[in-house]
Amino acid sequence: MGIELKKRYQLFIGGEWVDSASGETFQTTNPATGEVLANVASAGKEDVHRAVDAAWKAYQGGWRRTDAGFRGKSLYRIAQAIRDNSEELALLDSLDNGKTLNEARVDMFMAAECFEYYAGAANKLEGKVIPVFGDRLNYVLREPLGVVGQIIPWNFPLMMAAWKLAPALAAGNCIVLKPAEETPLSALRLGELISDIVPAGVVNILTGYGPEAGAPLVEHPAVKKIAFTGSTEVGRQIMAHAAAHVADVTLELGGKSPQIVFPDADLDAALEGVLLGIFYNEGQQCSAGSRLFLHESIYDNFLKKLIERSKAINVGPPQEPTSQIGSLVSKEQQKRVLNYVQLGVKEGAEVACGGKAPAAPELKRGCYVEPTVLVNVANKMKVAQEEIFGPVLCVMKWSDEKKMIEEANDVQFGLCAGVWTKDINKAHKTANKIEAGNVWINQYDVFAYGAPFGGYKQSGIGRELAFDTLLHYTQQKNVNVDLSGKPSRWF
Ligand code: NAI
Ligand code: MG
Repeated sequence: MGIELKKRYQLFIGGEWVDSASGETFQTTNPATGEVLANVASAGKEDVHRAVDAAWKAYQGGWRRTDAGFRGKSLYRIAQAIRDNSEELALLDSLDNGKTLNEARVDMFMAAECFEYYAGAANKLEGKVIPVFGDRLNYVLREPLGVVGQIIPWNFPLMMAAWKLAPALAAGNCIVLKPAEETPLSALRLGELISDIVPAGVVNILTGYGPEAGAPLVEHPAVKKIAFTGSTEVGRQIMAHAAAHVADVTLELGGKSPQIVFPDADLDAALEGVLLGIFYNEGQQCSAGSRLFLHESIYDNFLKKLIERSKAINVGPPQEPTSQIGSLVSKEQQKRVLNYVQLGVKEGAEVACGGKAPAAPELKRGCYVEPTVLVNVANKMKVAQEEIFGPVLCVMKWSDEKKMIEEANDVQFGLCAGVWTKDINKAHKTANKIEAGNVWINQYDVFAYGAPFGGYKQSGIGRELAFDTLLHYTQQKNVNVDLSGKPSRWF
């Protein structure tokens, strides 16, 4: 399927498509070819203020009072719009991000499912009645926060927009969404698709850079909450700046998740899970299972197969159906990942396969990185401690279980973990000892709507995808009613 891109994209504010106040634009490129895809409006402080005003107006003007059932139906319609246009949206994300079209198709499915989950959840959000002393009725309402700011990354452009927008809308909030500067196109297309589904100003989309468009959104006093997915470093800054006007934050940050293989595991299944865990989405996923702990008794055999399979992965143009790994998102990200490989070698690790950009001339212009396996890694090394965010797996051998679990937990992050064993007891015991928000047993990278996703430690605050996520987008109002009809006498 072809696609016709506009030469120039505008901001979506108050239901209108407008240029940025400064008139500035930036280019978004296809990282697989280096070709410029389009010019996109670059939002600044003034645009943030316009968008927040529009969102507040839409909130006061009616969205906060809409029936939850109506909001639910609107979300179903958004889900349907994504399904009806999924090929186009997938192609946009594949072009803008460099991920394979097949991966982008999965994102569209996941995005539609997300809207459907929160569509059904919208009218299940309830308050409560508390039995209190005396002749009184005490009830608690769950009210929306008002205007929320949402800042998303480039690794799953449309799916991240869905994860953020759906619960916030279901709970009755109005939104200013800032997509990543690397991948603005699918969110803008979503804005077009939903412009006749939700009233003007309910969703506003500001494309632009972090410091220019993201920071003023965080700092705006009318923004009651910031939901952010991205780097831990920016997450920290957002938390600090939100504090200035006491805004709430939820943060979904980095990870350095262990994949633990016990000697009794189904090794074929474990191999598939390890490959998926590190190479899916070109390794650019917060959940990446980037530290592999292999028991010494299976180490040689497993590693041999892992290297064979990694070498056989087809790295190629994202829109080719046979490509299993596409391009990384940018030259910067490619450089960052390759630098980490070099750093690992300096630290004493050894490149068992990959470790460089593919040599094929037709891939030279892109930001590709070969599937990479580093061996002789020690958990203290930077390559085992820092998020690489590319197709680079660090392999470690273990013999003592207690020590291995200590090492698995010995990182600043705590997002995910994979546990591979046929011993159900061991599986649950290991899950119990792991410091991470998500543990997968005999599988990896499974995201289920309804099940909370988020991090321990510096991997973040708050949970996405769950019913409880709705609660992060509400505040409680306690109402206490005197039923006695008698005045209280104080003097
Ligand atoms: P980043 O954290 O800078 O960008 C994520 C989003 O935050 C983008 O929309 C960006 O415009 C915005 N942003 C940047 N600075 C901001 C600021 N001062 N105020 C408000 N918003 C701001 O991440 P980047 O530079 O794209 O990637 C760097 C590293 O971050 C990656 O190598 C990876 O390790 C990690 N990362 C993690 C992600 C995850 O899913 N947890 C997603 C993307 C990146
Ligand atoms: Mg791009």
